[in-house]
Amino acid sequence: MKVTISVIKADVGSLAGHHIVYQEQIDLAKKILQEAKDEGLLIDYYVFNAGDDLELVMTHTRGEADPKIHGLAWNVFKEVTEKVSRPRKLYAAGQDLLSEAFSGNVKGMGPGVAEMEIEERRSEPIIVFAADKTEPGAWNLPLYRMFADPWNTAGLVIDPSLHQGFVFRVMDVVEGKVIDLKTPEEAYDLLALIGTTGRYIVERVYRADGLLAAVASVTRLSLIAGRYVGKDDPVCIVRCQHGLPAVGEALAPFFTPHFVAGWMRGSHYGPLMPVGLKDSRCSFFDGPPRVVALGFQLAEGRLIGPADLFEDVAFDHSRRVALQMAELIRRNGPIAPAILGPEELEYTGIKETLQRLASRFR
Ligand code: F6R
Ligand code: MG
Ligand code: MG
Repeated sequence: MKVTISVIKADVGSLAGHHIVYQEQIDLAKKILQEAKDEGLLIDYYVFNAGDDLELVMTHTRGEADPKIHGLAWNVFKEVTEKVSRPRKLYAAGQDLLSEAFSGNVKGMGPGVAEMEIEERRSEPIIVFAADKTEPGAWNLPLYRMFADPWNTAGLVIDPSLHQGFVFRVMDVVEGKVIDLKTPEEAYDLLALIGTTGRYIVERVYRADGLLAAVASVTRLSLIAGRYVGKDDPVCIVRCQHGLPAVGEALAPFFTPHFVAGWMRGSHYGPLMPVGLKDSRCSFFDGPPRVVALGFQLAEGRLIGPADLFEDVAFDHSRRVALQMAELIRRNGPIAPAILGPEELEYTGIKETLQRLASRFR
């Protein structure tokens, strides 16, 4: 059976600054998606939050980029903005709704999207990753490790069905072009691109035989809007097991946290801290950037679960390491390498200061 999993998310306002989605927002989103399920548009849905981002997981049979499904998500974000965010004066109400009118596809309008249409296998474990206070390039390192690094994924060496390797589709978000690179043969070429996380972003990963294995959101709000509108906190769907990375191999890259761009004012490097849903809320210096991982089994499109995968003592260790990394890099304050390069800065303050001082250089 062909099933589409659509994860569509937006920041439409939050409680206590950019901290957390408010419960009434989640309740209203669930109500609207339940109606869509009752009407038969959706097979199933799950609503959660990654910090201040409202995350909709929807399953259906309508394929990717379907106007009805995207319209439904857009309507959820609009309704939540009008009926909860604005009357409660939540912070940055409607932030990611960059356009007034819906044009058939939410891509490019603000919300982040990761979608895959798949033939559901005999058993289909998937993980939905969602991060707050970072950008889509944050997945480059973990996706590489999951699908191309034998130190992370033992299956690449010892499971014949992974041994042929994977194809990474990388998007140049500045030019709007994609390139496919095959590992292990082109691993170094791939790394030469995806090290530049602000520009080259892994969008999809296929197994060598063509099986779709992972999809990430690649929207960059700042490029869409041409001005700062908040970091485009990313989502990613990864299929697991039986000829794909095991769930534990898909989680393993997050055991050793890495630095990502985002955090305070979308302008700093910070560690990506894996957390359970109860800790999916950014606090210290609006962070550190956080990632949740929800495990589902698909059953004819129904979402069985989730398992809150980072809510585990094994990841207490990673959280401590992430906090140590946070402490170390915050010692630098506004001094590089704590702060992003000028082309990546999301606020215009430094540019304006440079302009103001220009005539005083002599
Ligand atoms: C980062 C983020 C926050 C805000 C910060 C200042 O993605 O959303 O760190 O940038 O809280 O927000 P404003 O400028 O709205 O006061
Ligand atoms: Mg926000
Ligand atoms: Mg956010």
